[in-house]
Amino acid sequence: MMKILFAASEAVPFMKTGGLADVTGSLPGYFDRERHDVRVIMPKYLCMDEKWKGQLRFLCHFHVRLGWRCQYVGIFETKHNGITYYLVDNEFYFAGDRPYNHIYEDVEKFAYFSKAVLEALPFLDFCPDIIHCHDWQTGLIPVFLRTLYGDERYYSGIKTVFSIHNLKFQGRFGIRAVMDITGLPEQIFTADKLESYDEANCLKGGVVYADAVTTVSPSYAKEILTPEGGEGLDGLMRAREHDLYGILNGIDYREYDPQTDPYLSAHFSVDRFAEGKAANKAHFQRIMGLPQEKGTFLLGMVSRMTDQKGFDLIAYILDELLATERLQFVAVGTGEERYENMLRYFADKYPDKMRVRIGYSEELAHGVYGSCDAFLMPSLFEPCGLSQMMSLRYGTVPLVRETGGLKDTVLPYNEYEGTGTGFSFANYNAHELLATLRYAMTTYYKNKKAWDGIVKRGMKQDFSWDSSARAYEKLYAALADDV
Ligand code: GLC
Repeated sequence: MMKILFAASEAVPFMKTGGLADVTGSLPGYFDRERHDVRVIMPKYLCMDEKWKGQLRFLCHFHVRLGWRCQYVGIFETKHNGITYYLVDNEFYFAGDRPYNHIYEDVEKFAYFSKAVLEALPFLDFCPDIIHCHDWQTGLIPVFLRTLYGDERYYSGIKTVFSIHNLKFQGRFGIRAVMDITGLPEQIFTADKLESYDEANCLKGGVVYADAVTTVSPSYAKEILTPEGGEGLDGLMRAREHDLYGILNGIDYREYDPQTDPYLSAHFSVDRFAEGKAANKAHFQRIMGLPQEKGTFLLGMVSRMTDQKGFDLIAYILDELLATERLQFVAVGTGEERYENMLRYFADKYPDKMRVRIGYSEELAHGVYGSCDAFLMPSLFEPCGLSQMMSLRYGTVPLVRETGGLKDTVLPYNEYEGTGTGFSFANYNAHELLATLRYAMTTYYKNKKAWDGIVKRGMKQDFSWDSSARAYEKLYAALADDV
């Protein structure tokens, strides 16, 4: 039995701010359980829902050294969908009403978490063969493991995998501060290890010290090797190219299933989707306060409202789009205030055509996937992207920019060959986006048969976790054999 411990700063259902939580919350359930014991360790945030907090069982406590500090660690345990979750408790670090950028400096919070994970292992009676770390918040785990625990027998056989879900977020902080907080020796704060642009970089630490590095789609794995996509670390990525794997994310097909989804008012399948989708559309238009027009092109978005997701392109074209075209547009999510305000402005200006809901709600998100005709995702960059896969599964045609995982999952419609599962454009340019939207709408209004073909082909795609889980299993096995 191979033992694998996922270490991450968030996991569904306990805490979610982004796609990372979907991955750490669903992938563990897809490994071959006869041969893999996969568990998850994450912080126990004070802002976690009471519903989950109430289920936790106290396991043990101990203290951990962080430089000159000595800090309390409590470990709680729970099971969810058959997977064991460990939660690290420290009310000082994990206080506040959100997990990041709050009360406590994230660098100290996650340096503490990373050290606590390693120190917890002997108490858990679970010595993993592999620690699978996710994003910069856990980047210091491989660093601590190799520099502080290298000689200890208990730890010597453990291998590490570091997964990059978004290279833009690197966890960069002042070198002096990180040295003081972590107690790591001065000689590792050099350009070939932790230092980057005069700062200490937690993500870089993970990439340098892990035995293998992965990212969440094959295209993104290539893009981060280039100066355009490397977020300043393309040289480092090229240096580790031979240990870098692009493994496409999946989505939880049990949770995202239009035949059973409890958030939908009507269920449907690939063989009979028209009525179900139409019923959902009517219901959704009603709850959003839009005119219940059956034949109007309904475009949806569920997204963090940030630069990454292409909101500056949307800002450029929205006025023209809403003024000149017959469509309805719904956006759900939170993010930068300027984008939230931009969306509110246009929703006010075009009350019959547009609605925006600032905030995150599972119900509205599933409503968008289950009811809209098309889903908009014109990202500047996209490591993988999950929403386009959810849309495909629900017969909502994705319109995306050809970048990262979007390029790997959405096949552009070809009207001559009758192929493709969505619409896409290549350059980060507002008018390419507008032209592509117009092309999609023309197809929708003028060629219903072709449109339904796109929907069907999309619904038949398989982006379940199975093939990704097999790829990770293979990687773990190769690392474990490599002694
Ligand atoms: C991040 C990325 C997104 C990816 C997700 C899960 O949120 O921005 O593209 O799908 O992580 O890996």
